[in-house]
Amino acid sequence: MTDPLLPPTTDGLVTVRAPEPGDEQALIAGRDEWFQRFLGPGPQEPQPVGCIHAGGQIVGFVDYDTDQEWLEPGEVNVGYNVFAPHRGRGYATRAVRLLLHHLAVRTGYTMASLLIDPANVSSLALAARIGATAAAHPGGCYFRRPVPPLAYSDGVVTIRPPEPGDAGWSRHESFGAGPRCAFSADAAGTRCVGYAECDLASGRMPRGEACIRVSCPPAHRGMGYEQRAAGLVTRFLRDHTGAREAPLVIG
Ligand SMILES: CC(C)(COP(=O)(O)OP(=O)(O)OC[C@H]1O[C@@H](n2cnc3c(N)ncnc32)[C@H](O)[C@@H]1OP(=O)(O)O)[C@@H](O)C(=O)NCCC(=O)NCCS
Repeated sequence: MTDPLLPPTTDGLVTVRAPEPGDEQALIAGRDEWFQRFLGPGPQEPQPVGCIHAGGQIVGFVDYDTDQEWLEPGEVNVGYNVFAPHRGRGYATRAVRLLLHHLAVRTGYTMASLLIDPANVSSLALAARIGATAAAHPGGCYFRRPVPPLAYSDGVVTIRPPEPGDAGWSRHESFGAGPRCAFSADAAGTRCVGYAECDLASGRMPRGEACIRVSCPPAHRGMGYEQRAAGLVTRFLRDHTGAREAPLVIG
Protein backbone atom coordinates (compact mmCIF):
# COMPACT_ATOMS: atom_id res chain seq x y z
CA MET A 1 0.00 0.00 0.00
CA THR A 2 1.37 3.42 -0.86
CA ASP A 3 1.46 6.16 1.73
CA PRO A 4 -1.03 9.02 1.45
CA LEU A 5 0.16 12.11 -0.41
CA LEU A 6 1.05 15.12 1.68
CA PRO A 7 -1.72 17.68 1.08
CA PRO A 8 -0.89 21.37 1.53
CA THR A 9 -0.33 21.64 5.27
CA THR A 10 0.62 24.91 6.88
CA ASP A 11 1.57 26.42 10.21
CA GLY A 12 0.67 29.87 8.90
CA LEU A 13 4.26 30.67 7.86
CA VAL A 14 5.55 27.55 6.13
CA THR A 15 3.56 25.19 3.92
CA VAL A 16 4.60 21.65 2.99
CA ARG A 17 2.90 19.83 0.14
CA ALA A 18 3.53 17.01 -2.30
CA PRO A 19 5.62 18.09 -5.32
CA GLU A 20 3.83 19.41 -8.38
CA PRO A 21 4.94 19.42 -12.02
CA GLY A 22 7.80 21.85 -12.46
CA ASP A 23 9.07 21.64 -8.88
CA GLU A 24 11.97 19.39 -9.87
CA GLN A 25 13.95 22.25 -11.41
CA ALA A 26 13.72 24.33 -8.24
CA LEU A 27 14.71 21.35 -6.10
CA ILE A 28 17.76 20.68 -8.26
CA ALA A 29 18.72 24.35 -8.49
CA GLY A 30 18.59 24.57 -4.68
CA ARG A 31 21.36 22.01 -4.19
CA ASP A 32 24.53 23.49 -2.80
CA GLU A 33 27.81 22.38 -1.27
CA TRP A 34 26.15 21.42 2.05
CA PHE A 35 23.49 19.42 0.25
CA GLN A 36 26.17 17.49 -1.68
CA ARG A 37 28.23 16.96 1.43
CA PHE A 38 25.48 15.68 3.70
CA LEU A 39 22.90 14.22 1.31
CA GLY A 40 25.09 13.15 -1.62
CA PRO A 41 24.49 14.03 -5.29
CA GLY A 42 20.70 13.60 -5.08
CA PRO A 43 18.43 11.93 -7.65
CA GLN A 44 18.05 13.30 -11.19
CA GLU A 45 14.29 13.46 -10.76
CA PRO A 46 13.71 14.44 -7.14
CA GLN A 47 10.32 13.40 -5.77
CA PRO A 48 10.44 14.14 -2.04
CA VAL A 49 7.35 13.62 0.10
CA GLY A 50 6.98 17.38 0.45
CA CYS A 51 8.26 20.67 -0.93
CA ILE A 52 8.66 23.44 1.63
CA HIS A 53 7.10 26.77 0.66
CA ALA A 54 7.62 30.08 2.42
CA GLY A 55 7.19 33.63 1.19
CA GLY A 56 5.55 32.44 -2.03
CA GLN A 57 8.40 30.22 -3.23
CA ILE A 58 9.92 26.78 -2.77
CA VAL A 59 12.64 26.96 -0.16
CA GLY A 60 13.46 23.28 0.27
CA PHE A 61 12.02 19.84 0.86
CA VAL A 62 11.18 17.31 3.55
CA ASP A 63 11.18 13.61 2.89
CA TYR A 64 10.91 10.27 4.56
CA ASP A 65 11.49 6.70 3.49
CA THR A 66 11.05 3.24 4.89
CA ASP A 67 13.72 1.60 2.70
CA GLN A 68 16.58 1.34 5.19
CA GLU A 69 17.04 -2.15 6.53
CA TRP A 70 17.90 -0.81 10.00
CA LEU A 71 14.48 0.79 10.46
CA GLU A 72 12.23 -0.88 12.98
CA PRO A 73 8.56 -1.55 12.17
CA GLY A 74 6.59 1.70 12.21
CA GLU A 75 9.75 3.80 11.87
CA VAL A 76 10.57 6.23 9.04
CA ASN A 77 13.88 7.83 8.09
CA VAL A 78 13.47 11.60 7.72
CA GLY A 79 15.56 13.86 5.46
CA TYR A 80 15.40 17.57 4.60
CA ASN A 81 17.11 20.40 2.82
CA VAL A 82 16.55 24.13 2.93
CA PHE A 83 18.11 26.15 0.14
CA ALA A 84 21.11 28.18 1.33
CA PRO A 85 19.55 31.69 1.12
CA HIS A 86 16.64 30.56 3.30
CA ARG A 87 18.51 28.88 6.14
CA GLY A 88 18.57 30.22 9.68
CA ARG A 89 14.90 31.21 9.77
CA GLY A 90 13.35 28.11 11.30
CA TYR A 91 11.84 26.88 8.02
CA ALA A 92 13.44 23.41 8.28
CA THR A 93 12.32 22.92 11.87
CA ARG A 94 8.80 24.05 11.02
CA ALA A 95 8.68 21.80 7.96
CA VAL A 96 9.88 18.73 9.86
CA ARG A 97 7.26 19.37 12.53
CA LEU A 98 4.59 19.66 9.85
CA LEU A 99 5.82 16.37 8.38
CA LEU A 100 5.47 14.77 11.83
CA HIS A 101 1.96 16.22 12.00
CA HIS A 102 1.16 14.68 8.61
CA LEU A 103 2.49 11.30 9.77
CA ALA A 104 0.32 11.57 12.88
CA VAL A 105 -2.85 12.57 11.04
CA ARG A 106 -2.68 10.35 7.96
CA THR A 107 -0.39 7.38 8.57
CA GLY A 108 0.18 4.68 11.14
CA TYR A 109 3.91 5.37 11.54
CA THR A 110 4.96 5.72 15.13
CA MET A 111 8.63 6.76 15.07
CA ALA A 112 10.70 9.27 13.09
CA SER A 113 14.46 8.86 12.89
CA LEU A 114 17.24 11.12 11.67
CA LEU A 115 20.67 9.83 10.69
CA ILE A 116 23.05 12.80 10.83
CA ASP A 117 26.71 13.24 9.99
CA PRO A 118 28.49 14.28 13.22
CA ALA A 119 29.89 17.32 11.34
CA ASN A 120 26.41 18.53 10.37
CA VAL A 121 25.98 21.00 13.20
CA SER A 122 22.85 22.64 11.74
CA SER A 123 21.08 19.33 11.38
CA LEU A 124 22.12 18.24 14.89
CA ALA A 125 20.61 21.49 16.18
CA LEU A 126 17.38 20.74 14.32
CA ALA A 127 17.23 17.26 15.86
CA ALA A 128 17.54 18.85 19.30
CA ARG A 129 14.85 21.43 18.48
CA ILE A 130 12.31 18.78 17.55
CA GLY A 131 13.04 16.85 20.73
CA ALA A 132 14.74 13.86 19.09
CA THR A 133 16.99 11.83 21.37
CA ALA A 134 20.21 10.06 20.49
CA ALA A 135 20.18 6.31 19.94
CA ALA A 136 22.90 3.81 19.06
CA HIS A 137 23.62 3.31 15.35
CA PRO A 138 26.80 2.34 13.47
CA GLY A 139 26.32 4.82 10.59
CA GLY A 140 26.49 8.23 12.29
CA CYS A 141 24.54 10.23 14.85
CA TYR A 142 21.17 8.61 15.04
CA PHE A 143 18.20 10.38 16.63
CA ARG A 144 14.65 9.27 17.13
CA ARG A 145 11.46 10.85 18.25
CA PRO A 146 7.97 9.38 18.39
CA VAL A 147 5.40 10.61 15.90
CA PRO A 148 3.35 12.88 18.16
CA PRO A 149 -0.12 11.91 19.30
CA LEU A 150 -3.30 13.67 18.20
CA ALA A 151 -4.92 13.46 21.64
CA TYR A 152 -3.36 14.91 24.79
CA SER A 153 -4.38 14.31 28.37
CA ASP A 154 -3.29 15.57 31.78
CA GLY A 155 -5.23 12.88 33.61
CA VAL A 156 -8.29 15.09 34.08
CA VAL A 157 -8.93 16.70 30.70
CA THR A 158 -8.28 15.13 27.30
CA ILE A 159 -8.24 17.09 24.07
CA ARG A 160 -8.73 15.17 20.83
CA PRO A 161 -9.71 15.77 17.22
CA PRO A 162 -13.43 16.48 17.01
CA GLU A 163 -15.76 13.76 15.78
CA PRO A 164 -19.11 14.10 14.04
CA GLY A 165 -21.79 14.45 16.69
CA ASP A 166 -19.57 16.39 19.11
CA ALA A 167 -21.02 19.64 20.40
CA GLY A 168 -19.75 22.41 18.15
CA TRP A 169 -18.73 19.94 15.43
CA SER A 170 -19.83 22.19 12.59
CA ARG A 171 -17.67 24.98 14.01
CA HIS A 172 -14.46 23.02 14.13
CA GLU A 173 -14.60 20.02 11.88
CA SER A 174 -11.33 20.79 10.11
CA PHE A 175 -8.25 19.12 11.54
CA GLY A 176 -5.01 18.30 9.89
CA ALA A 177 -4.10 20.85 7.24
CA GLY A 178 -3.71 23.92 9.46
CA PRO A 179 -3.26 26.75 10.10
CA ARG A 180 -6.09 26.12 12.55
CA CYS A 181 -6.60 23.01 14.64
CA ALA A 182 -9.68 22.49 16.76
CA PHE A 183 -10.24 19.98 19.54
CA SER A 184 -13.05 18.58 21.60
CA ALA A 185 -12.30 18.37 25.32
CA ASP A 186 -13.50 15.49 27.49
CA ALA A 187 -13.26 15.33 31.29
CA ALA A 188 -14.36 13.12 34.16
CA GLY A 189 -15.95 10.57 31.84
CA THR A 190 -18.00 13.22 30.05
CA ARG A 191 -17.53 13.92 26.36
CA CYS A 192 -17.32 17.49 25.08
CA VAL A 193 -17.07 19.50 28.28
CA GLY A 194 -15.52 22.15 26.09
CA TYR A 195 -13.67 22.92 22.93
CA ALA A 196 -10.31 24.38 22.15
CA GLU A 197 -8.56 25.64 19.08
CA CYS A 198 -5.25 27.09 18.03
CA ASP A 199 -4.88 29.34 15.04
CA LEU A 200 -1.43 30.08 13.61
CA ALA A 201 -2.71 32.70 11.16
CA SER A 202 -5.13 34.51 13.44
CA GLY A 203 -4.14 38.06 12.53
CA ARG A 204 -3.57 38.72 16.25
CA MET A 205 -0.07 37.23 16.21
CA PRO A 206 2.75 37.12 13.65
CA ARG A 207 2.11 34.32 11.14
CA GLY A 208 3.32 30.99 12.45
CA GLU A 209 2.68 31.97 16.07
CA ALA A 210 -0.46 30.61 17.67
CA CYS A 211 -3.49 32.11 19.30
CA ILE A 212 -5.26 29.62 21.61
CA ARG A 213 -8.97 29.87 22.33
CA VAL A 214 -10.79 27.62 24.78
CA SER A 215 -14.40 27.63 25.86
CA CYS A 216 -16.70 25.54 28.05
CA PRO A 217 -20.48 25.68 28.10
CA PRO A 218 -21.93 27.09 31.38
CA ALA A 219 -22.55 23.61 32.88
CA HIS A 220 -18.83 22.84 32.78
CA ARG A 221 -17.35 26.16 33.86
CA GLY A 222 -15.60 26.82 37.16
CA MET A 223 -13.75 23.51 37.24
CA GLY A 224 -10.53 24.66 35.66
CA TYR A 225 -11.14 22.73 32.46
CA GLU A 226 -10.34 25.75 30.29
CA GLN A 227 -6.87 26.21 31.78
CA ARG A 228 -6.14 22.49 31.53
CA ALA A 229 -7.31 22.36 27.91
CA ALA A 230 -5.14 25.38 27.07
CA GLY A 231 -2.10 23.65 28.61
CA LEU A 232 -2.78 20.60 26.48
CA VAL A 233 -3.07 22.69 23.31
CA THR A 234 0.33 24.17 24.17
CA ARG A 235 1.74 20.64 24.28
CA PHE A 236 0.15 19.90 20.89
CA LEU A 237 1.69 23.09 19.46
CA ARG A 238 5.12 22.19 20.79
CA ASP A 239 5.02 18.77 19.08
CA HIS A 240 3.25 19.61 15.82
CA THR A 241 4.29 23.17 14.95
CA GLY A 242 7.11 25.68 15.20
CA ALA A 243 5.00 28.19 17.15
CA ARG A 244 6.89 29.72 20.02
CA GLU A 245 4.28 32.05 21.51
CA ALA A 246 0.62 31.46 22.16
CA PRO A 247 -1.59 34.00 23.95
CA LEU A 248 -4.75 32.51 25.41
CA VAL A 249 -8.32 33.62 25.07
CA ILE A 250 -10.87 31.98 27.41
CA GLY A 251 -14.58 32.33 26.85
C1 LIG B 1 20.03 21.02 7.99
C2 LIG B 1 19.37 22.32 7.53
C3 LIG B 1 18.05 22.02 6.86
C4 LIG B 1 19.16 23.21 8.74
O1 LIG B 1 18.70 24.46 8.27
P1 LIG B 1 18.56 25.68 9.30
O2 LIG B 1 18.12 26.85 8.52
O3 LIG B 1 19.79 25.80 10.14
O4 LIG B 1 17.41 25.16 10.28
P2 LIG B 1 16.06 25.89 10.57
O5 LIG B 1 15.37 26.22 9.29
O6 LIG B 1 15.34 25.06 11.54
O7 LIG B 1 16.50 27.27 11.23
C5 LIG B 1 17.08 27.31 12.51
C6 LIG B 1 17.43 28.74 12.85
O8 LIG B 1 16.26 29.54 12.72
C7 LIG B 1 15.94 30.13 13.99
N1 LIG B 1 14.47 30.13 14.12
C8 LIG B 1 13.69 31.21 13.88
N2 LIG B 1 12.40 30.90 14.06
C9 LIG B 1 12.35 29.60 14.43
C10 LIG B 1 11.29 28.72 14.75
N3 LIG B 1 10.03 29.12 14.77
N4 LIG B 1 11.59 27.43 15.05
C11 LIG B 1 12.87 27.02 15.06
N5 LIG B 1 13.92 27.83 14.76
C12 LIG B 1 13.68 29.12 14.45
C13 LIG B 1 16.64 29.26 15.01
O9 LIG B 1 16.90 29.97 16.20
C14 LIG B 1 17.89 28.89 14.28
O10 LIG B 1 18.77 29.99 14.32
P3 LIG B 1 20.37 29.77 14.49
O11 LIG B 1 20.79 29.00 13.26
O12 LIG B 1 20.89 31.16 14.55
O13 LIG B 1 20.54 28.98 15.75
C15 LIG B 1 20.28 23.06 6.50
O14 LIG B 1 21.52 23.32 7.11
C16 LIG B 1 20.50 22.30 5.20
O15 LIG B 1 19.67 22.36 4.32
N6 LIG B 1 21.65 21.59 5.09
C17 LIG B 1 21.97 20.81 3.90
C18 LIG B 1 21.18 19.51 3.81
C19 LIG B 1 21.29 18.68 5.07
O16 LIG B 1 22.30 18.67 5.75
N7 LIG B 1 20.21 17.97 5.40
C20 LIG B 1 20.12 17.15 6.60
C21 LIG B 1 20.79 15.85 6.41
S1 LIG B 1 20.70 14.91 7.93
